[in-house]
Amino acid sequence: MQLNGARILLTGATGGLGEVLARQLSAAGAALLLTGRNPDKLAAIPLTAGAECVRLQADLSTADGIAAAASAARRFNANMLINNAGIGGFGLLESQDWNEVEQIMATNLVVPIRLTHALLPWLKSQPEAAVVNIGSTFGSIPFAGFAAYSSAKAGLRGFSQALRRELADSSVRVIHIAPRAIDTPLNSAAVNRLNAALKNTSDSPAHVAAGIVRTLQNNASESHLGFPERLFAWINGVSPSLIDRGLSGKLATIKHHAVKQ
Ligand SMILES: NC(=O)c1ccc[n+]([C@@H]2O[C@H](COP(=O)([O-])OP(=O)(O)OC[C@H]3O[C@@H](n4cnc5c(N)ncnc54)[C@H](OP(=O)(O)O)[C@@H]3O)[C@@H](O)[C@H]2O)c1
Repeated sequence: MQLNGARILLTGATGGLGEVLARQLSAAGAALLLTGRNPDKLAAIPLTAGAECVRLQADLSTADGIAAAASAARRFNANMLINNAGIGGFGLLESQDWNEVEQIMATNLVVPIRLTHALLPWLKSQPEAAVVNIGSTFGSIPFAGFAAYSSAKAGLRGFSQALRRELADSSVRVIHIAPRAIDTPLNSAAVNRLNAALKNTSDSPAHVAAGIVRTLQNNASESHLGFPERLFAWINGVSPSLIDRGLSGKLATIKHHAVKQ
């Protein structure tokens, strides 16, 4: 899809990936409606002079926040929604507070579905439109220590594929992009220590944002950013027991970092 002239509602614009993605989308010629919860961070997102941009503070875990974002998107004439807001969730399931589990599921899965639901009639009325869901490698390689987060991201992948098939005869494209670990505040110190111990590569936000922009410009519907994670995602799809075996060797390390966090 053409980014030059696109009008994009980007959620999570105040985050580590969102801020850099906003700058790259703007540089590619898109007009932006940026949302986040933190008003200071929202106001401080630097864009080049003259870039078209509206900023909206909204907590998307509330009905009011969804309604505010959807009506701002209609006023803005948005033709692309990028569901990027998310929260992390490292910990063994039995040690996680139920509220935390619910929040992980709500922010990473329910919010993107709800915002898409609120905006879909509008997007369908546009000559060309897109819903872009930022998932995670863990949505295809569900990981020990991230049961709720992996479930939410696997759900987001399923939602993206089902909706894409449902909208195949419409003007709305549905795109799912799954990055591997990124150097952003989403990852706690314990997650960073775990990634270092497991030798998991963590990409810069600029690298991931460039991959997202490339995916959109190439009209791809699915993108796994990072190798060998892309290969492991495929293996998990055809033979999950191979990944079970591979991950069982890492379980002691994962538990060590989950307990110590
Ligand atoms: N970091 C990684 O390792 C990694 C890897 C793969 C995929 N991802 C995905 O990439 C996306 C961006 O994550 P990130 O790494 O940039 O995380 P981040 O730096 O922690 O930023 C998260 C963003 O989501 C917003 N947000 C969280 N809860 C919200 C709510 N209830 N309502 C509205 N906005 C809310 C935050 O807003 P405020 O800051 O204003 O509160 C912030 O803008 C997420 O979907 C994440 O799952 C991240």
